[in-house]
Amino acid sequence: MQKIIILDFGSQTTQLIGRRVRELDTFCEILPYNKFPQNDPDIIGVILSGSPFSVYDPEAFKVDLTQILGRYPVLGICYGAQYMSHNLGGRVEPAPSREYGRQHLTTIDLSNPLFRGFEQGSQVWMSHGDTITAIPENFTCIASTASVRYAAYYSPQAPGTGSSAAPLWGVQFHPEVFHSTQGSLLLKNFVVDICGSRQDWSAASFVDTTVAELRQQVGNDRVILGLSGGVDSSVAAVLISRAIGDRLTCIFVDHGMLRKNEFAQVMEDYKVLGLNVIGVDASKKFFGDLAGVTDPEQKRKIIGRDFVEVFNAEAKKITDARWLAQGTIYPDRIESLNITGKVIKSHHNVGGLPKEMNLQLCEPLKWLFKDEVRRVGRQLGMPEHLITRHPFPGPGLAVRILGDITPEKVQILQDADDIFIRGLRDYKVRLSGEEARRVLAAGVPAAMTDGEIEVSLYDQIWQAGAVLLSTVRSVGVMGDERTYEHPVALRAVTSTDAMTADWAHLPYDFMARVSTDIINHVRGVNRVCYDISSKPPATIEWE
Ligand code: XMP
Repeated sequence: MQKIIILDFGSQTTQLIGRRVRELDTFCEILPYNKFPQNDPDIIGVILSGSPFSVYDPEAFKVDLTQILGRYPVLGICYGAQYMSHNLGGRVEPAPSREYGRQHLTTIDLSNPLFRGFEQGSQVWMSHGDTITAIPENFTCIASTASVRYAAYYSPQAPGTGSSAAPLWGVQFHPEVFHSTQGSLLLKNFVVDICGSRQDWSAASFVDTTVAELRQQVGNDRVILGLSGGVDSSVAAVLISRAIGDRLTCIFVDHGMLRKNEFAQVMEDYKVLGLNVIGVDASKKFFGDLAGVTDPEQKRKIIGRDFVEVFNAEAKKITDARWLAQGTIYPDRIESLNITGKVIKSHHNVGGLPKEMNLQLCEPLKWLFKDEVRRVGRQLGMPEHLITRHPFPGPGLAVRILGDITPEKVQILQDADDIFIRGLRDYKVRLSGEEARRVLAAGVPAAMTDGEIEVSLYDQIWQAGAVLLSTVRSVGVMGDERTYEHPVALRAVTSTDAMTADWAHLPYDFMARVSTDIINHVRGVNRVCYDISSKPPATIEWE
């Protein structure tokens, strides 16, 4: 299958480049800057990402360009553009002032294939401290801004490569971010017109090829999968069951700290989807082991340990299982670089399954971004409420109750959370411009009319939930009675990957209504607060 390689030099937007390429129905792989694959016949083009470093930093990431230049069309973005220019005889210097934010391209060479269809004055997003002050021989400047002379350059052949060698481009702005309004067009020009992508990577083709591959991989074996009610494991389950039917056995453990009615509802959804699911109500064990425990880390450890015990006990009963399937997705596996140069890899936890079971790992979603998982879910005919579900932490409401956990506290929180979440689903907002594009790009299905879309607050945000501050009491008055009860904090955040997040600016009338509903209907709560902390320095969950 054709692919674009994106070499990661540590920029925060590298994953975004990947998503933009996938939006062009083209497969791509994000690899650390020094892991360019040798002799892969499927590569049709290469993108070099930005970086937090200057090309002059001693610890800057460096790559041998000779294995890439001339062999494939190359697009350098920001640091990628500066790195190529610097290495091929151009000059890069600190900019007199940091070039950051919105700028407009002037004097674009509209005859260059990279800028086909562009408008003079097109808005782009800059973010760099160095700037290119001279480009190598054979290079042409193809766009400038008021303050950046070499905003984009082009060379038909990299120096030292033959006349039939592939061309290269560099742009000092970030076409992958929304603020570069024609950035997607630039990437389309590169990926489709220049590199020749056939644009045959789609949800439908992914389902067809993956189902065929799964049948080949798994044969007549039995597969076990742990369901969480979340999008990734649910889509993985439906995809695998499409391939092997009821030779897939799913296990869904209820630890008692899911959302209100969630276990029963999700079990019903799974039944309708034809999945073979064993639902295990283990709430008594979890509540028993958590009794009196207040330390957040301790709570997490107990839940993790109990979960593995319960899951394993069920899995062991399935004696003919040969495979363990997981809903691991691409961002879980991308080796991301941090500024110290260390490679950080987030491993998916296999859950410590008993060794004697000797299971092989099956991860059918391991190449997909979250929005692609949702598209695949839709392709498989899954209900929208399962597909657009917010992420929910494995330890559930336990990390949203300060202090010790009791079934009574969980019920109070479930009721408050339910009012909040239902309110978010019912409240519709109209969005236009960049806000609308951001929501649509995240895979939310909404029709555009007159440049506007209508979505629920729920679909507009990344994640929301209520937190019970059960270690705090405050005084209130209800009717003629003095109350002395717990506050509930509401948390709603916008994010693209949960690594960073901002608190959602929810409408005041919505917050007023939810606050009144919670205080009037949930016994034990007499005050509602809204968490206005971003991540970092706070985290999304309170524990
Ligand atoms: P934090 O609180 O670290 O959360 O900002 C980031 C994202 O991860 C989710 N989260 C978890 N998910 N097991 C999970 O499966 C966990 O123990 C866990 N802790 C946090 C959190 O809901 C958010 O989406």
